[in-house]
Amino acid sequence: MVAEISKGLEDVFIKTTTLTNIDGIKGILRYRGYDINDLVEHGTYEEVIYLMIYGSLPTKEQLNTLKEKMKKHYNISSDLLNILAKLPKNADAIGMLEVAFSVLASGEVDYKWKPDADKEKAIELIAKSLSIVANIYRIKEGLPVKNAVIKESYAETFLNVCFDKPVPKEFVNVMDKALILYADHEVPASTTAALVVSSTLTDMASSIVAGLAALKGPLHGGAAEAAFKQFIDIGNVNNVDSWFNKHVLENKERLMGFGHRVYKTTDPRSKIFKRFSETFSKYNKEVDRYYQIASKLENLATNEFSHKGIFANTDFYSGIVYYGLGFAPYMPTPLFALSRVTGWLAHVMEYVEEQERIIRPRAIYVGIDRRDYVPIDKR
Ligand code: CMC
Repeated sequence: MVAEISKGLEDVFIKTTTLTNIDGIKGILRYRGYDINDLVEHGTYEEVIYLMIYGSLPTKEQLNTLKEKMKKHYNISSDLLNILAKLPKNADAIGMLEVAFSVLASGEVDYKWKPDADKEKAIELIAKSLSIVANIYRIKEGLPVKNAVIKESYAETFLNVCFDKPVPKEFVNVMDKALILYADHEVPASTTAALVVSSTLTDMASSIVAGLAALKGPLHGGAAEAAFKQFIDIGNVNNVDSWFNKHVLENKERLMGFGHRVYKTTDPRSKIFKRFSETFSKYNKEVDRYYQIASKLENLATNEFSHKGIFANTDFYSGIVYYGLGFAPYMPTPLFALSRVTGWLAHVMEYVEEQERIIRPRAIYVGIDRRDYVPIDKR
């Protein structure tokens, strides 16, 4: 057997899926056959959760049943809230999320694989993510932890826990669409990490911890925060040219929110996030400043890199949208994680229940073949 390594596992297929289909050349993204633009235009996050977990869009009755089920699980135990509140004030938000799901994995609730109950457990974990992320935000903002007051939708309930003031309908709508946009994306590093972990038949909550650990890196979900911080660093649209020349062209730093392993054209999610940031920019001067910086930077970078197939990805504009919703600059990655929990769970269930085999690749040994042991005083 001639062993070959595909660096970064490029073009290695790990599973079959009926969840998400990406055409990276045409810039198409579909969840179970539905185009992302249609889902964002007409759907809600709860419909997408149902679609991903149960396989089809829900009827009105199925949707109501799902919403009722989720409402029962929005809140988390006071023990978990207390653990989160005791973490250092400057703790990393994704690190706090890892702690939260580790607590769930430690047996607070039983998330072991049980095929007849997995979907119910997945819904429970998706619902609990709401209070976990919202309370991490509250703790980092110096606000007391609080339970969810149940509102009409997941997005509205979430924003309501985060902020101590009424949230305009348009904001709820944008939050709902952002949740749809980040819900799944086939098998990026985080989903692959979750799959590797779940293939050992560990519990569902531990698979999420694995997903989170991979997500927070700046080459993956951490790019959402890093992209927004780039715009803060640039500060003003007049500085874009000099910043781009110095950082990207001269120092060869990677432009955050640009490039993708699969897309060789603009990520369709990026176009939607750009549209939302443009809308916010009409009403909010700060957002407008960041939007002007980002769109100028996108033009410069596209001119420079398009011949290499490097374009804006979903993380480029999302931070501006979250900032427009009122979130602090460290929140884009936790908000990415909030809805990606759905994709991670849908993929690990698909794998464990249909294609289970432990994921155990090989490494090609290239070290010294055999050596005699030398006692320590003779080395
Ligand atoms: N800025 C500048 N050059 C880039 C960038 C970038 N953002 N992305 C790729 N390149 C160049 C890279 O230097 C290399 O050039 P050369 O062939 O001359 O050495 C070439 O493009 C191929 O890069 P690669 O690292 O082999 O590509 P990859 O498929 O392994 O990496 C990526 C994909 C997303 C990690 C990479 O594009 C990147 O680092 N982007 C910036 C971070 C980012 O935005 N990540 C979010 C990804 S999408 C959403 C998500 O997962 O969260």
